[in-house]
Amino acid sequence: MNALNNQEQYYELRFVINPEMEEEISNMCFEIFDCDGVILEEEAFKDLEMISTTKGTLKAFIKDPENIAERLKSAREMMIARGFSEEDLGSWEFTVTKIENEDWSKKWKEKWDVTHVTDKITVVPTWIEYQPKDHEVIIKLDPGCAFGTGTHQTTQLCMKALEKYMPEKAEVADIGMGSGILAILAKKLGATKVYGCDNDETVIQTAIDNAKLNDCPDITFELNTADKIKDKFDFVCANILHNVLFEIMGDLKNIMKDNAYLSLSGILDEKKSVVLEAIERENLKIVEEIHQDQWTSFVVTK
Ligand SMILES: C[S@@+](CC[C@H](N)C(=O)[O-])C[C@H]1O[C@@H](n2cnc3c(N)ncnc32)[C@H](O)[C@@H]1O
Repeated sequence: MNALNNQEQYYELRFVINPEMEEEISNMCFEIFDCDGVILEEEAFKDLEMISTTKGTLKAFIKDPENIAERLKSAREMMIARGFSEEDLGSWEFTVTKIENEDWSKKWKEKWDVTHVTDKITVVPTWIEYQPKDHEVIIKLDPGCAFGTGTHQTTQLCMKALEKYMPEKAEVADIGMGSGILAILAKKLGATKVYGCDNDETVIQTAIDNAKLNDCPDITFELNTADKIKDKFDFVCANILHNVLFEIMGDLKNIMKDNAYLSLSGILDEKKSVVLEAIERENLKIVEEIHQDQWTSFVVTK
C-alpha cells in the first residue's frame, strides 16, 4: 500500500458495512476505486486481539469522488452475484468528505499488530520488531493490497489445518494464495515443494516479495487456476469463497495425491451446505470440520 502523495487531494468515503465482511469489502474497494487505503472505523486492538463493534463503518481513502453511488451499486451487485447476501454486506449508506492530506498508511500500520495464530505460528508485520520465542514459526508480512494478513479467521483456519495435518516433507499447493501467507507457512513448517497460484494478477508480485522476505525464494507463485495444474500434492489449501469452492472442487480433487489432505476455508457458516454438496459430489471424505466465529472450514481427503 502506498503512502498518500502530498500533491494529490484525497476524499474519505465512509460507508456502513457488516464488520464481519471487512476484508472482502475492503478488497472490493481496491478493485473499484483508485483507493490508497481502507480502514474499519471502530476497529480497535486490545492485548493483540482485534475487537470490532457490531456496526462497522468502513473508511476508504479515494482520489476520485465522482459517481460513488453508481460505483457502489455495481460493486454491490457484483458481490451479490459472487454469493453474498444483503445481510452479509450491510446497508452501505455512505458519505464522502474531502480530507486533509495525511499519511493514511501510517495510520493503518499503527493498527495492525503481531498476530498469534496458534502457540506456534505468529504473523509479524514487516515494520514491527518482534523477538520470537524458540518454538515459534514467524511469518513476516507486508500484504500490499492482497488478502492475507493473518488476522482473518478464514486464513487462520487454513493455517491451523496446515499445522495439524501437513505431512512431513510434503508437497503443497495453495490455490488463491493472495499475500502468499499459507504457502510461506507450509514452507516454514517443512514442506519440500510449495506452489501457489491466484487468478488475480495484482497479487503475484506481493506473494513473491513476501516469500523473499521470509527466506523462501523457492516457492513458485503464478497467475493460474486449479484446472490447469498438472502436478499432484500431499496437501492443498483453498481459502476462497464458498461458490468458487463449489465450482472448482473437482479441480482441487484432481491435484491431490491419493493420501492428500485438502483444507477448504472461506465458508460462512450459513453457506456451508453449498460446500458440503460439492464435497459429496466429488466423493471426498471429511476428516474435520473446524469453526472460528461465523466461519466454517473443512479438512477432507479422497
Ligand atoms: C480469501 S483470499 C485468500 C488469500 C490467502 N490464501 C489467505 O488464506 O489469506 C482468496 C484469493 O483467491 C483468489 N481467487 C479467487 N478465485 C480464484 C480461483 N478460481 N482460482 C485461483 N484463485 C482465486 C483471489 O484473488 C484471492 O486472492
